[in-house]
Amino acid sequence: MQYTEIPETTECIAAVRSYLSGLPEQPLAYLHSFGCQLNVADGEKLAGLLTEMGYGLTGDVNKASLILYNTCAVREHAEDRVFGTLGSIKHLKTEHPDLILCVTGCMTAQQSVADKIAASYPYVDIVLGSSAVQRLAPMLYAHLMQGQGHAWDIGTYADIPEGVPVIRESPFKAAVPVMYGCNNFCTYCIVPYVRGRERSRKPEDVLTEVQTLVSQGYKEIMLLGQNVNSYGRDSGGMDFPALLREIDRIPGDYWIRFMSSHPKDAGTDLMDAILGCTHTAKHLHLPVQSGSNAILKRMNRNYTVEKYLSQVKYLRDRCPDFSLTTDLIVGFPDESEEDFQATLSLVRQVRFDNMYAFIYSKRTGTKAASMPDSTPAQEKSERMQRLLSLQREIAVENNRRFVGRTLTVLCDGESHKRTGMMTGRSSENMLVEFSGTAAMTGHFVDVVITESHSGKLTGSVRTAS
Ligand code: SAM
Ligand code: SF4
Ligand code: F3S
Repeated sequence: MQYTEIPETTECIAAVRSYLSGLPEQPLAYLHSFGCQLNVADGEKLAGLLTEMGYGLTGDVNKASLILYNTCAVREHAEDRVFGTLGSIKHLKTEHPDLILCVTGCMTAQQSVADKIAASYPYVDIVLGSSAVQRLAPMLYAHLMQGQGHAWDIGTYADIPEGVPVIRESPFKAAVPVMYGCNNFCTYCIVPYVRGRERSRKPEDVLTEVQTLVSQGYKEIMLLGQNVNSYGRDSGGMDFPALLREIDRIPGDYWIRFMSSHPKDAGTDLMDAILGCTHTAKHLHLPVQSGSNAILKRMNRNYTVEKYLSQVKYLRDRCPDFSLTTDLIVGFPDESEEDFQATLSLVRQVRFDNMYAFIYSKRTGTKAASMPDSTPAQEKSERMQRLLSLQREIAVENNRRFVGRTLTVLCDGESHKRTGMMTGRSSENMLVEFSGTAAMTGHFVDVVITESHSGKLTGSVRTAS
């Protein structure tokens, strides 16, 4: 249902703030973002908006008078987790009928999901499509001030949220979306359907945001987009390599990371920009998805294995130590053993430092959903295990190259796994555990690497000689 007579966002924010300030206690909101870093970045804006409207934020769902789930639709498992979570909090709504339950994000941009929520989770009050940043305040207004029990708006909006308050999860690592949406329509992927077409932020808005973050002491700036390499194409403006170079001119002690890069658009201009900038980290995430040209074609990826390998060679010829990570899908419809062998072969050639491998998940509405798929689920799981075990071997061997060397690490804080140890990531995006102090959190530290494992390096802080 659409509500047309709701005031503009700024008026709604003011009205909700005035209403909440009249309550005997400040109400608390619990927000959880599932999915990718772009969704988490949206969540940071939603947290900013909730704060602006007068909510305090809590990490305890039991203390909240508003619960907001910012969802992900990329795989069936992601959606199942959200439905499971909605079921598990039903009792809170029964105990506290005034509790406001809100679901937003990529899942709710699908009519089928909205229908399922309506049928099976009728106690959800507010449902917003993936453009919740624009619609949260108006829908809260409709619910709180106009008494709309179900305030639902699953439309996707094509604007770009600028000037929205942001509550960042980290005081030293900042996510900066440079563009929204995706035009690529990889045949397995739901994202273009739920996030809409590509919209690039203006370079001046990105640059101002990064400049402010660096002046506030942020040490890592993560530029985000579903395919950052097509930045600027929709507006005909500055392209991504040029944006990187402009950001790099901002003086300060910080790293620039970015993701994701689509191999079809990752040309030598991008590689030259990465290598030429002083602030870019020595790590590139370049999702390959498959090592079989036949599968890449059916995925609509628009590059070949040969092109991918030539990009890797270009980068490694100029910087042999550059760290490379990827995404891979196992069991795409009718993937044969031969196709899978081609993926293993590509992994052996590139020797990725890390990979995110996923078993193909059918997404209704995508092209791949109607492709025949005769490979049994058991076979797909076995392929996944074979791929992961190859990657583990490669990672152990790759990581040995760091032993005895000093890596600069941005310290994230104390390790949850080993008491007394600090943890962080190096420029190469390697997870590093080291003996240090809590005061190092949020700072760059030089760590001498003493041991390597498959998923991490360990070491100790280099002392001045
Ligand atoms: N835009 C990024 C790109 O193209 O590299 C990736 C975005 S997607 C959110 C992250 C990863 O999820 C993809 O790289 C792909 O490996 C995986 N993925 C997307 N759709 C999938 C599906 N239907 N089943 C399994 N994995 C999927
Ligand atoms: Fe999905 Fe492909 Fe777009 Fe990435 S580039 S978000 S995989 S459609
Ligand atoms: Fe998921 Fe949406 Fe990101 S589907 S991976 S949260 S863009």
